[in-house]
Amino acid sequence: MKNNNRSNLITSKLPDVGTSIFAEMSRLAADTNAINLSQGFPSFDPPEALLDRISYHLHNGDNQYAPMAGVPALRDAVARKTQRLYDRTANPESEITICSGATEGIFSAIQAIVRRGDEVIVFDPAYDSYEPSITLAGGITRHNALRVDDKGFDFAIDWQLLEDTINRNTRLIILNFPHNPTGAILQRRDLDQLATLVRNTDCYLLSDEVYEHIIFDGEVHQSLLSHDELWPRTMVISSFGKTFHATGWKVGYCIAPQELSAEFRKVHQFVTFTVNTPVQYGIANFLDSSPEFYARLPAFYEEKRDLFCRLLEGSRFSLQPARSTFFQVLDYADISDETDTELAIRWTRELGVASIPLSVFYDEPIAATRLRFCFAKDSAILEAAAKKLRAI
Ligand SMILES: Cc1ncc(COP(=O)(O)O)c(C=O)c1O
Repeated sequence: MKNNNRSNLITSKLPDVGTSIFAEMSRLAADTNAINLSQGFPSFDPPEALLDRISYHLHNGDNQYAPMAGVPALRDAVARKTQRLYDRTANPESEITICSGATEGIFSAIQAIVRRGDEVIVFDPAYDSYEPSITLAGGITRHNALRVDDKGFDFAIDWQLLEDTINRNTRLIILNFPHNPTGAILQRRDLDQLATLVRNTDCYLLSDEVYEHIIFDGEVHQSLLSHDELWPRTMVISSFGKTFHATGWKVGYCIAPQELSAEFRKVHQFVTFTVNTPVQYGIANFLDSSPEFYARLPAFYEEKRDLFCRLLEGSRFSLQPARSTFFQVLDYADISDETDTELAIRWTRELGVASIPLSVFYDEPIAATRLRFCFAKDSAILEAAAKKLRAI
């Protein structure tokens, strides 16, 4: 007899993938009325002038399909920013593509480059979208754990491990600095070291730089775009969601040399085809007219980081202030020996503060006693959360 229950026929292409921990913790926070410092989104609005620009374009006829690669005004503005900040000339016609947030950029880049059986190296703790995208492309993910110092806070690429992992089948290395969740950053010498390691290989680099403008203590973001030797094999992804306090807009971009951008666009045009038009025009106007907005982001978020860390003085957590991003890692080794996932769930329910356990960013189970807290929040929220955390 014919089996009409089609669900029996499905062999999942992503059998290990469930709902992301970010969505789960946010849901739990909402269900339990906890302060949500888990998922990375600001509690404040985008700048008023940017909202005005978008509203203008919404009301003035910019509501139909944008060109597949993005509206020219936005690509031009991104090209100018790239030249100014990273001294890289990227042709807006052929080397810059606007995509639907960094998530689509990462997915499209991976589909464009990775073939069945190719190996892709990611650094754990790793953002959760990389591996499923690699798996869907038929690739194999090789996990390199970042090396961590004795205190458990300072994360860095283990160059020896990377050298040992690279082989003939390595097609792509994915980097994410400034790094979510640890706040690790790259120095210039790291880019040089990377160049040495890939010099005689055919592998490409995908650099997720969504936190490019959120870096502290006078450090300067070392974009892969700024390195002449790496540029020909590099695709850089960024996102306006992090830069303009607008994670809900899902507008990002990919910058890559012409041949790589051409392949990227082949995928992008069938994943989303194009990104919403009025927001692109609004961002284009604002990027050009208000470069001081993103230039001030380091000071803006550094103040929030310092406030959150100061509010935790006298608590039983140990910490090292984040060097970048809007996440602060807290170590609870002196408080509990529960696993980080158990504790993150329990504290959401019982204490009323939601966080993300660091172990979910790893392939291999790790015995970490660390939780990630998002400090992209108004002072009152940080104060209320810190009060609860200090009381433990
Ligand atoms: C490291 C990293 N990459 C990519 C993304 C996704 O960015 P978008 O919201 O623009 O898709 C995020 C969002 O949290 C992130 O932290």
